[in-house]
Amino acid sequence: MTFVAARVIEAHGARIPLVGLGTWELRGRACVRVVEHALRHGYRHVDTAELYDNEREVGEGLRVSGVKRDEVFVTTKVWPSHFAPRDLERSVQASLERLQLSQVDLLLLHWPNPQIALRDTLGALCKVQRMGLARHIGVSNFTVALIEEAVKLAQEPLVCNQIEMHPFIDQSKVIAACRRHGMAIVAYSPVARGGVNRDKVLARIGKAHGKTAAQVSLRFLVQQGIAVIPRTSRLERLSENLAIFDFELSPAEMAEIAQLAHRDGRIVDYAYSGTPQWD
Ligand SMILES: NC(=O)c1ccc[n+]([C@@H]2O[C@H](COP(=O)([O-])OP(=O)(O)OC[C@H]3O[C@@H](n4cnc5c(N)ncnc54)[C@H](OP(=O)(O)O)[C@@H]3O)[C@@H](O)[C@H]2O)c1
Repeated sequence: MTFVAARVIEAHGARIPLVGLGTWELRGRACVRVVEHALRHGYRHVDTAELYDNEREVGEGLRVSGVKRDEVFVTTKVWPSHFAPRDLERSVQASLERLQLSQVDLLLLHWPNPQIALRDTLGALCKVQRMGLARHIGVSNFTVALIEEAVKLAQEPLVCNQIEMHPFIDQSKVIAACRRHGMAIVAYSPVARGGVNRDKVLARIGKAHGKTAAQVSLRFLVQQGIAVIPRTSRLERLSENLAIFDFELSPAEMAEIAQLAHRDGRIVDYAYSGTPQWD
C-alpha cells in the first residue's frame, strides 16, 4: 500500500500527512507545548479552527518547534456563522493573523450552514484560495448530498472532507462519495475521544500486535487510506499515536473491526441551523 509507506495521501495535488495533531480544547501554554513537542517528534500536520480559540498558540508552537514552515501541513476552518462571502474572507484573514502565517495549507468549511447559499460560500472559498490565503480548500461534516452539490458548484478542486471516523461509526457512504470525486478523507475523533480503550475487540487485536486499542483504531483508518488527527494533551501519547506504521492489520482483523460500527456510534452532532441528514 503505497499511501501507508509514503505516509501522505494525495488529493488534487494536496499531499496530506496521514497523521496529524488535533487541537480542539488545547489552550494557552499547554497548547503551545503540545504543538511544539508534536512537531519535534515527527508530526507534520496540525489541525485547528477559528472556533478552537487556539490559532495563536498553534502558530507559536509551530515557530518554537524550529521545524520549517513549508514542512508542516496546517489546516484551519471557517465557522458557519462566517459563510457569507465577505465574512469568510475576513475570517480567514483573521485566522492567518492569529497563526502569523501568510497562508494555510488547507482551509475547510467547518460545518454545513443551510442558511447561506452554498454557491456563495464556495465562491468565496475559491476566491481566498486564488488570493493565496490557502493552498488547498475543502469541507467538513458534508453529507453525500452536500458533497455532490459542492463539487458541482466549486470552481477549484475540493481536496478533502473532514468527518467523524473511528471503529464505532459507519461512514461508508460518505467515503464512497469522496472517493468518486478524488477527495481525501480526514478522520476526526479517530480514537472516539478515548472510547476505543474500553473496547475488548480492539484491546485483543492490539495485544496480538503489541499495540494499544487506540493504535489499532488509528491503524484501521490509515490502512484504508484515511488521514487521522488524534488530539492529546499528554506528551507520551504523541508518540503512541504516531507509532502505527510498524504493523499491519490482517484482512480478517480489518473486517472484525468494521463490525464494531453501530447506530449510536456518532459522537459529534451539533444542530447548527438544523442537524444535517446524516447518511
Ligand atoms: N471538523 C469537525 O467538526 C471536528 C469535530 C471534532 C474534532 N475535530 C478535530 O479532530 C481532532 C480530534 O478529535 P477529538 O479531539 O474530538 O477526539 P479524539 O482525538 O478521538 O480524542 C481525544 C481524546 O482522547 C484522548 N486520547 C488521545 N490519544 C489517546 C490514546 N492514545 N489513548 C487513549 N486516549 C487518548 C485524549 O485525552 P488526553 O488529552 O488525556 O490524551 C482526548 O481526551 C480535534 O482535536 C479537532 O482538531 C474536528
